[in-house]
Amino acid sequence: MPSLDIIGDDKLTLPGGEVVRFAHLDYAASAPCVRAAADAVAELLPRYGSVHRGTGVRSQASTIAYELARDVVAEFVGAGPDHSVIFTRNTTDALNLLARALPPGTTTVQFDGEHHANLLPWPNPLRLPAPGSPNTAVAALDEALRRLTGPAVFTVTGASNVTGELWPVRRLADVAHAHGVRVVVDAAQLAPHRPVDLTELGADYLAFSGHKLYAPFGAGVLAGRTDWLDAAAPYLAGGGASVAVGDRPGELSWATGPARHEGGTPNLLGAVALAAVCSALITADRAALHEHEQHLLGRLRDGLTAVPEATEVSVFGPDQPRVGIVSLHLRGHDPAEVAQRLSREHGIGVRAGQFCAHPLVRRLTGAATTGACGTAATGLLRASFGLGSTAEDVDRFVTGLAEVLRT
Ligand code: ALA
Repeated sequence: MPSLDIIGDDKLTLPGGEVVRFAHLDYAASAPCVRAAADAVAELLPRYGSVHRGTGVRSQASTIAYELARDVVAEFVGAGPDHSVIFTRNTTDALNLLARALPPGTTTVQFDGEHHANLLPWPNPLRLPAPGSPNTAVAALDEALRRLTGPAVFTVTGASNVTGELWPVRRLADVAHAHGVRVVVDAAQLAPHRPVDLTELGADYLAFSGHKLYAPFGAGVLAGRTDWLDAAAPYLAGGGASVAVGDRPGELSWATGPARHEGGTPNLLGAVALAAVCSALITADRAALHEHEQHLLGRLRDGLTAVPEATEVSVFGPDQPRVGIVSLHLRGHDPAEVAQRLSREHGIGVRAGQFCAHPLVRRLTGAATTGACGTAATGLLRASFGLGSTAEDVDRFVTGLAEVLRT
């Protein structure tokens, strides 16, 4: 049975001499590695070879391992016969790939609460202000699509990397589909915490990263409808993407299917590691994992009520369902300095700043909307967690934060 146990248990000596376990509370940036991913890589390393490129036994085994990894990811996202699963480097790469595959003239409709990976790659963006409630989001999208003429696509995050809040993806997707508009879901923060089924989400495309899904070996995924992908120019022109190349420039034919966009030798170990985690999650007790995470979330938020200098930020309000991510506005304190002290004095890893979501963080902090990147002082402090996180991690963060803010 593949294990979802986190590997590594690093000990740190604090300035006072106390030895503590590192409290990793920065999963939203990069989650630690689970045993299933590490084992899959260790097993393949002594016998891997080229993928799709050789007749030797190593090459054949590697090609099978790579395509099996694709099949597992397809199952993880509920992909059907009209879908492709393409291995990429990460979510940013996956969304850039799709952005370049849109039919010409497509408008991309989005809210400004997105991570830069889902904000910046799109051509012809129509950016709507982040709404105050799920109902407002649904109404705003409906209104925007009603006014729009010409082809469009709608892209939205599944869970915010800043607030952890779930966006009402299914409701938004139903509205988009009623207008004949396809839906892209940035599942980078959703996939590590919740099932991500294309049909249940109402998504036409999903993107996510291995390094946030406990498989930090450099692979990501774009899964979704094949037709646009097959009609688009190859994302990476080169070997693997090309089927036949003539003597003159332009004399060539391109592959269809995933190979069209996977030019060059693929990241076999990354794909296999990512698929190993997907496989382990497919058979895991997701309800129990969810319950544990929500317990930690509740404990953290309860603890923070005793730290009045820190205010949790949210787009939709405190009751919106969310994953294990909490961002805090620290009145009168520089979050970068607080994060450094939490690391140095308490052995806690968190992230400070604007988390590659500058428009959203500016809005949440009330910072001036100058269009320029803000400084750390205008940012937030974020704690994020998941598999293997403990009540002790959360308690240490609350205690450490209170101490740092008061001394
Ligand atoms: N997207 C990652 C984060 O939110 C890097 O920290």
